[in-house]
Amino acid sequence: MAILVTGGAGFIGGNFVLDWLAGADELVINLDKLTYAGNLDTLKSLEGNASHVFVRGDIGDKTLVSELLNRFQPRAIINFAAESHVDRSIHGPADFIQTNIVGTFNLLECARAYWNELGEALKANFRFLHVSTDEVYGSLASDAPAFTENHPFEPNSPYSASKAASDHLVRAWFHTYGFPVLTTNCSNNYGPYHFPEKLIPLMILNALAGKDLPVYGDGQQIRDWLYVKDHCSAIRAVLANGKLGETYNVGGWNEKANLSVVHTICDLLDELQPKAVGMSYREQIRYVKDRPGHDRRYAIDARKLESELGWRPAETFESGIRKTVQWYLDNQAWVSNVVSGNYQTWIEQQYGH
Ligand code: NAD
Ligand code: DAU
Repeated sequence: MAILVTGGAGFIGGNFVLDWLAGADELVINLDKLTYAGNLDTLKSLEGNASHVFVRGDIGDKTLVSELLNRFQPRAIINFAAESHVDRSIHGPADFIQTNIVGTFNLLECARAYWNELGEALKANFRFLHVSTDEVYGSLASDAPAFTENHPFEPNSPYSASKAASDHLVRAWFHTYGFPVLTTNCSNNYGPYHFPEKLIPLMILNALAGKDLPVYGDGQQIRDWLYVKDHCSAIRAVLANGKLGETYNVGGWNEKANLSVVHTICDLLDELQPKAVGMSYREQIRYVKDRPGHDRRYAIDARKLESELGWRPAETFESGIRKTVQWYLDNQAWVSNVVSGNYQTWIEQQYGH
């Protein structure tokens, strides 16, 4: 059998493919456009692995997607492919609309046509798992309970609006066509192979390079952090045992203010890669202009996933962030390939240096 993974050269998709192939020898067809965020270095350890077929292409390419489905006959599609960075969506939303909405629509339509032609047993077992975000629920008041699956959608950025639209499409394909979908809405991930435009890797790499650590606004915005491998195990659990048409929130009960996360990173680096005596990485922190429309707080209530599917995260924030900082210290070759080239153009545009 085979599964089709889209966006499997990105941060979460790459971790998912690596973990999947470490635990099973089922064929993985990995369809990725290799945008700035896609990185084949992440998949280097799979070179020569006959269970991994990488295809460079767009989920919006109907001919290609249909051809891959008919050729490899996957039993499931896991859709990670997306434009994922909120700040980029503010600068230029067009790609977010194209990939996250139109691309997901195309994938759904190609998959539905393929699924319609399957024999009864294959049809009954087929799954389309859509990977989404807690940002579709909008911003939480400081005293509000964490997001459950029933929280209304109130997306505030072009990114979250495009993901909310894709979630609605997935839902509609289940209700209208009986197409067998599952959706996961996860909180902020961190861990190995994270593209350094995002808070945690950006802070680690800037600190090591002696650069400013740019904290938006007052740094008191709250995110709910989950180690990426725990997100991958949650997706595997939902794929195996999730109820068709349902959505599952994924999170690790790790609400942290951004400034506190940055302090933790600085303190770990002070321990693992100390500067001159008496100096701390915390001295590099700078408060910069806030993100427009910045959501104040996200928090995930993961009780449905825990009670119905028995999922538990393996890492606490403390264990996961230590592993992550150490991973960046140990993987300088991966880092230097990622931060060269086009990435510098984004840094100049966003931070002005
Ligand atoms: P990422 O930006 O690191 O990776 C996205 C991948 O998709 C890249 O490899 C890119 O090349 C590929 N891609 C982009 N457009 C494509 C297209 N049109 N066709 C095929 N491939 C395309 O993103 P990520 O952080 O790994 O996020 C993966 C998914 O998980 C996204 O759907 C995102 O919305 C969701 N998510 C992310 C987080 C997080 O904290 N990073 C949390 C919850 C949900
Ligand atoms: O909540 C899930 C979402 O988490 C995913 O759906 C997105 O794909 C993912 O990018 C992430 O979105 P965020 O906007 O929360 O992540 P980011 O790492 O960009 O920012 C985290 C917080 O840190 C946010 O409050 C903004 C702040 N920040 C970010 C950067 C890049 C800073 O203060 N300074 C920075 O330089």
